[in-house]
Amino acid sequence: MTKISAVILAAGKGTRMRSDTPKVLFKVCGKEILRHVADNAADCGIDDIAIVVSPNSDEIRANLTDKYTYCVQYTPLGTGDALLSSKEFLRKQGGKVLVMCGDAPLIDKNSLNEFIGYAERGEYDLCLLSADITTKNSYGRIVRENGQLRRIVETKDADENELLITEVNSGTYLIDIEKLLESAGEINCNNAQGEYYLTDFVEVFAKKGYKIGAYKTNDSDVVLGVNTRVDLAKITKVMQKRINEEIMLSGVTLVDPDNTYIDKGVVIGRDTVIWPGTIITGKTTIGEGNEIYSSRIADCTIGDKNLIEASTLEESSMGDGNKIGPYAHFRPKSAIGDNLKIGNFVELKNAKLSDGVKASHHAYLGDVDIEENVNIGCGVIFANYDGVNKHRSYVGRDSFIGCNTTIISPVNVGKGTFVAAGANVTDDTPEDSFVIARARQETKRKRHK
Ligand code: UD1
Ligand code: CA
Repeated sequence: MTKISAVILAAGKGTRMRSDTPKVLFKVCGKEILRHVADNAADCGIDDIAIVVSPNSDEIRANLTDKYTYCVQYTPLGTGDALLSSKEFLRKQGGKVLVMCGDAPLIDKNSLNEFIGYAERGEYDLCLLSADITTKNSYGRIVRENGQLRRIVETKDADENELLITEVNSGTYLIDIEKLLESAGEINCNNAQGEYYLTDFVEVFAKKGYKIGAYKTNDSDVVLGVNTRVDLAKITKVMQKRINEEIMLSGVTLVDPDNTYIDKGVVIGRDTVIWPGTIITGKTTIGEGNEIYSSRIADCTIGDKNLIEASTLEESSMGDGNKIGPYAHFRPKSAIGDNLKIGNFVELKNAKLSDGVKASHHAYLGDVDIEENVNIGCGVIFANYDGVNKHRSYVGRDSFIGCNTTIISPVNVGKGTFVAAGANVTDDTPEDSFVIARARQETKRKRHK
């Protein structure tokens, strides 16, 4: 087996995105485009991966960490020049190099393995991945003579007849490193864009009698690269469809997959039903048999058989059998157990709620530990912030906190405490106490009657 390393080209300016963010750091289904590409290469067992970046690539390096070799292309002189910027890396590797575009995230493990298998079996010195695209596009056209690959002509350099060619270049190649380096000086920039085209190596190799070939895949989506935000939306759609289909085939019902957004890497258990308008992102794991209506769930761990309705859950966790929402908001670091009810307009923040707690409407539960079976009335507020510091409160099991109570944290409410409605609780309470903390009502006759 030939040794295969990978070089990912990501030093282009990405001008067409019209953004301050480097193009390859735009996210598709929760993951940076470039990270998709690098992960795809790694998924087919390639260990040595180099990324060609521009000199101001701090943001890219910071995002992708240093598990890759970074090669700098000082001036963006074209894709051929970009690949040659990794010369030192290539010399160390030997064997063959898989060249990929940092802006094409849809070429996944399966397509890559298929392509590499074809290239290896055919013992090509240069093989590329192509596909048919019949709509108007700006990809390089694959020129064949008698069925054999001869050269690639970029759209901007193509004549009328060449523009009619539907087979286009995906920008993915497997190239013999020795032959590539030896031909390095043989490409030029005499073309419409004044750039050193990587695609010109095809003709150079052909002229030298090296074995060149193109593997045409049936999946034309693999060619899609992100050049504009229109492409970004298109690619997101394709990837979303792939993710959703995989999830559905694993036993999850997506009532309307076209209107359900799930990040790559999210795990969802069997028989969970997800209704439209739901967005599930980040490191989220959802168990079995849940019913989720139009909610946003980010970086959460959710157990089984919960009902979640029109709510926003962030960096939080819950056990089983809970009823959440509509319109509940779990802010980060909230964790609840089993069989709770967290109803309309209840906000949790850094709150730990044990089994059976009920907070059915309009409450703010910030920085608090609440034990089993506590009932939180409508309008209860944990006043956790004194203007300078945050304080934490505790409510013992089986307590009842009446409507419109404000607990001025820090307060320890002993178990079994009953707080009458409208209280301002400032002091700790012993177990099984009854607390009234409000001004006594005075009722007087109206003066003129
Ligand atoms: C390129 C191919 C085209 C192919 C298409 C597939 C060439 C000349 N053309 O065109 O045949 O159909 O990809 O998507 O190769 N880059 C650098 N340094 C540079 C220029 C580009 O690193 O100087 C990187 C970019 O960051 C990008 C990749 O190379 O990730 C492709 O460059 P791009 O300018 O997008 O090429 P295309 O015009 O799409
Ligand atoms: Ca491109």
